Amino acid sequence: MLDALRKWMVQRHRMKSEAQRERIKHLLLEFQMGRWSWIADLPSRLFFGTDLKMLATIYGTDKWNRHWYAQHYEEVLHRFRRRQTNLLEIGIGGGEAPRKGGNSLRMWRAYFPKGHIFGIDIYDKSAHDGRRIRTFRGSQADPEFLNSVVNEIGRIDVIIDDGSHMNAHITTTFQHLFPSLADGGIYAIEDTQTSYWAEYGGNEIDHNDNATAMGFFKSLADGMNWSEFRNGYKPNYLDLHIESIAFYHNLIVIRKRLHEEPPPFANEAASEA
Ligand SMILES: C[S@@+](CC[C@H](N)C(=O)[O-])C[C@H]1O[C@@H](n2cnc3c(N)ncnc32)[C@H](O)[C@@H]1O
Repeated sequence: MLDALRKWMVQRHRMKSEAQRERIKHLLLEFQMGRWSWIADLPSRLFFGTDLKMLATIYGTDKWNRHWYAQHYEEVLHRFRRRQTNLLEIGIGGGEAPRKGGNSLRMWRAYFPKGHIFGIDIYDKSAHDGRRIRTFRGSQADPEFLNSVVNEIGRIDVIIDDGSHMNAHITTTFQHLFPSLADGGIYAIEDTQTSYWAEYGGNEIDHNDNATAMGFFKSLADGMNWSEFRNGYKPNYLDLHIESIAFYHNLIVIRKRLHEEPPPFANEAASEA
């Protein structure tokens, strides 16, 4: 009898502390997501505002500690930090659970103190909407949905594809969204290891397959030198607007800049090259 009573009390205490823990977690999340989020963001912004690796750790996105992207993002996004940057990230995280995920959106909000952060996800993530954060529900594979998002946002300075990681989605989303990226903007694609994985539409044998993300972006490299071709080649939109493509471990970063009239070296004698 006494034993049963003790067991009941221990269980009751455990349930109570479990419920308390859940309540505290819920309150903390509310605090981070709701209209008081700017207060929650203040310490991380004040002490670690320029340290994206630390912000990734604080906000719990896998852009650091699991993947090692934050160091590269710091390098390419540093110049946007104090500007009114509009950043669109595909993939909010947390699966079907409406209140889960949003970690990277909050990290970007802390990193860009004047920025506006937009997120796309196949699931409803509107619970994360708040000060300088707005979410849209839809698929990155749906061009009409992407058009409506672009129309809502207006100028987009940075696009990050951390969505389905399906190779067909990555390339079609890029072809669709890249023209809407502002001149001087950055387009990043994460987790390009799926290029080599069949279940994501990757190719395990042919690593230059154009249908894979890695194959597709490698194939764009020559286009940056289109004006040097000696075969009467007519440049397309990507040839004219891709300034650079950087390949990091599982991460591709494309810089957009119109370069319509590069010097015509193609007609110079080989000795002058
Ligand atoms: C890796 S998580 C994003 C993590 C988040 N960016 C972060 O760093 O914290 C990938 C997200 O992409 C979403 N997703 C999957 N397929 C999608 C699609 N076709 N269109 C848009 N989002 C998709 C998933 O629901 C999931 O939330």
